[in-house]
Amino acid sequence: MIENNKDIYSELRRDMVENQLVPRGITDSRVIDAMLKIPRHKFLPEHLGDYAYSNAPLPIGMGQTISQPYIVAYMTELLNLDTGDKVLEIGTGSGYQAAILAEIGCDVYTIEIVEILAFRAKKVLQSLGYKNICLKVDDGYMGWEENAPYDAILVTAAPPEIPEPLTNQLKEGGKMVIPVGDYFQELILLKRTREGLKEKRVTPVRFVPMTGEAQKHHK
Ligand SMILES: C[S@@+](CC[C@H](N)C(=O)[O-])C[C@H]1O[C@@H](n2cnc3c(N)ncnc32)[C@H](O)[C@@H]1O
Repeated sequence: MIENNKDIYSELRRDMVENQLVPRGITDSRVIDAMLKIPRHKFLPEHLGDYAYSNAPLPIGMGQTISQPYIVAYMTELLNLDTGDKVLEIGTGSGYQAAILAEIGCDVYTIEIVEILAFRAKKVLQSLGYKNICLKVDDGYMGWEENAPYDAILVTAAPPEIPEPLTNQLKEGGKMVIPVGDYFQELILLKRTREGLKEKRVTPVRFVPMTGEAQKHHK
């Protein structure tokens, strides 16, 4: 049983980085520093706190999950972020990924469709003092037009097809990472260039489905 002890959690975070992230190729020091710092256990239901740093996705209620640490690190690293970048996240969930982006120094806009999850995430993020995160309850399929264009978009729920409103809100040179598919999903990295969108299939993944409008856009 893990005691409520700061040093034990920071040791677990160090183990997570050394055993799960670095051996699998995560090298971005901004991502690693954020993962060493952020108390992932605070984003989980209390009874799951002991498992917070394990190599697995975990339930956060309402049938939703917090992604496994490696996937959070990998998706963030793929975006090659800089301080001051404006980033849109679709699928706030627990708020952990938003905290990682904020810790890197990005201005974060995050959308969650399930109100109770958004409410809980907001509470944790506020208690940790993040001021550079704007959260709203909505269907993220349409993005967040008022603050567009974005340097990066990170999607943590899988639509069957890439939502066009999201690609339209990417800056030139901006990147989007998104799981796409139904049962079989792939992580896709998109870049908006002067010539148009460049798409790279990165790896097979398993995410919860994007609900709402996305479900009407099956080809
Ligand atoms: C894998 S979980 C998110 C993990 C989250 N990024 C974290 O750090 O905990 C995916 C989330 O996407 C949300 N979601 C699903 N469809 C959505 C939509 N159309 N718009 C916004 N959020 C959506 C789900 O409710 C769920 O909370």
